[in-house]
Amino acid sequence: MTILITGGSGKTSSVLAKRLHAANLPILVASRAGKAPEPFKAVVFNWLDPATFENPFIADSSIDRVYIVVAMFGPETAHVNAFVDFARTKGVKRFVLLSASQIEAGKLPLGEIHQHLIDSGVEYAVLRPTWFQQNFGASLLTSIRDHSQTFSASQSGRLAFVSTEDIAEAAFQALTAEPSLNKDLLVFGPELLSHDEVAALLSAAVGRKITHVKHTVEEMKNIYTSYGLPEEYAAVLSDMEGKIADQVEEELFNVSVDKKFVGKRTVGEYIQKNREQWIN
Ligand SMILES: NC(=O)c1ccc[n+]([C@@H]2O[C@H](COP(=O)([O-])OP(=O)(O)OC[C@H]3O[C@@H](n4cnc5c(N)ncnc54)[C@H](OP(=O)(O)O)[C@@H]3O)[C@@H](O)[C@H]2O)c1
Repeated sequence: MTILITGGSGKTSSVLAKRLHAANLPILVASRAGKAPEPFKAVVFNWLDPATFENPFIADSSIDRVYIVVAMFGPETAHVNAFVDFARTKGVKRFVLLSASQIEAGKLPLGEIHQHLIDSGVEYAVLRPTWFQQNFGASLLTSIRDHSQTFSASQSGRLAFVSTEDIAEAAFQALTAEPSLNKDLLVFGPELLSHDEVAALLSAAVGRKITHVKHTVEEMKNIYTSYGLPEEYAAVLSDMEGKIADQVEEELFNVSVDKKFVGKRTVGEYIQKNREQWIN
């Protein structure tokens, strides 16, 4: 048994690789550059280039499980279902897909991959995390460090920001569970917080005032298009943020225990551990 981890150097894949390795489970990392940190083996793999789909199976003929990470939007998603079908012919029995809290089966490209796993009759799990805690150190890093601002269209709505380490733990469990889960799971952090409350935690950690700028959904859409996201996807993304203001994430957090994985790591812990990056 070998587990193929796509999304090579990504936020959850890199943690998952360490978690599986620590449990003595064989893994292979798929990344565009074909590189992974020691001691992991890696192969060149690109969702946009189906000629690379065979590389993992040439490198290791015992791959039987795959962790699927693909950008929420973008041309890559169109190739994933073909890879799933191909991987099945190579002996893969189980797929674990990283999707998102507000994306149900059949909805948007990621939801179409989710639906394909259901329709294929394979062993599967779909992880639907809410917003990552790590976004404050990635997409929001420059704004916080250089302008002392976070921003969103979530107004005062609350959500259970989740650590990528907890998502990796959910992926570990979904990949190794016997029997296979064969369902989707919402993935949350342990507590509901608004962006204002996170800004207050950041302020206390860095010793200066960090402000949460409350944008309208339309303003957020314009910000995302200014980053180069096509208009259609910018609209979907800003709309998802707007739904936080409408308590949608709070309602999702309150689903029954069998429908969710609730991680242990708090936003406060994440901020304390990583505070240096926001100090200018
Ligand atoms: N961020 C959030 O708050 C959030 C919330 C819910 C759901 N999600 C979902 O989580 C998923 C990943 O999140 P992320 O955007 O933060 O990315 P990420 O996991 O940090 O990175 C994705 C990785 O995919 C690999 N990759 C990129 N293009 C590729 C290609 N063409 N072929 C093969 N591999 C490729 C890259 O690794 P290499 O450079 O090694 O190839 C990259 O590091 C997305 O589907 C997103 O919708 C995110």
